[in-house]
Amino acid sequence: MKKFLIFILNLYMAFPLSSCENNAKQENIFPEEDNNNKPETVNDKILIVYFSRTGENYAVGNINVGNTAIMASYIQDYTGGASFEIIPSIPYPDDYDETCKISQQETADNARPAIKNQLKDLEQYSIIFVGCPIWYGAPPMIIRTFYETYQNELANKTIVPFGTHEGSGVNSCTSLAKEYFPNVVLLETFGVRGQDVKTSRKKIENWLHKINIPKSNSNNND
Ligand SMILES: Cc1cc2nc3c(=O)[nH]c(=O)nc-3n(C[C@H](O)[C@H](O)[C@H](O)COP(=O)(O)O)c2cc1C
Repeated sequence: MKKFLIFILNLYMAFPLSSCENNAKQENIFPEEDNNNKPETVNDKILIVYFSRTGENYAVGNINVGNTAIMASYIQDYTGGASFEIIPSIPYPDDYDETCKISQQETADNARPAIKNQLKDLEQYSIIFVGCPIWYGAPPMIIRTFYETYQNELANKTIVPFGTHEGSGVNSCTSLAKEYFPNVVLLETFGVRGQDVKTSRKKIENWLHKINIPKSNSNNND
C-alpha cells in the first residue's frame, strides 16, 4: 500500500512538471515587456576609468590608441562594463621627450592637471577600474586630479587599479589608491608592459577571473 501511494505521488509530481515544460516551449514564458526589463547583473555596475596617451611612446613608436586604452578595452570586452576616458584639458604632446619634460615638471610642482570631461552618474556603479600608464615610477598627476575630484563618490566603491608600464610595474597604482581611499575595498592590481599589451588579452582575462569579476554574457572573445 505504501509503495502504491508513493507511485501515485510520483505520477502526480511528474505530470504537472512535464506539462509546465511543454507550455514553456510553446509560448514565451517571459512576456515581451519583461524581456526589456531583465534583472541587473553585477556587470551593469562596472565602470572602467582610464588615462592613456597617443603619439610617440617608448618601445612602441607612434601609436593611435594608447597602451592603457587597449588594456581598458580588453577589460570592457570581458566585463561588458561602461568606460570613461580621462581627457586632459591641455593635451600632452605627441613628442615623447616633450611629454617626459612636462611629466617631470608636473611631479616637481605637485600639479593637478585639469580634466576636460566630466564623469556623471558615478553613483550607479559599484566597481570602478582605474587605469593609467606609469610615468617616472608613478601614476601621472592627472590621476590625483581624478581621485580628488571624485573622492566622496569613490569612497564607498570597490576600486580595481590597473596599468601599463615598461619595467617599473604597477605597485604605485595600488599605493596611490590606498593613499586616497584607505577604507575602500581594493581588488588586486594588474599591469602589463605597454609593448606587450596586444598579446596580453588572455593574461588580463585570467586576472579578471581570479579576482571574481564575472564575464559578460555578450563577451565573444573566447
Ligand atoms: C612621460 C613618460 C614617463 C614614463 N616613465 C616610465 C617609468 O618610470 N617606468 C616605466 O616602466 N615606464 C615608463 N613609461 C612608459 C609607459 O608607462 C608605457 O609606455 C605605457 O604603456 C604608456 O601607456 P599609454 O600608451 O597608455 O600612455 C613612461 C612613459 C612616458 C610617456
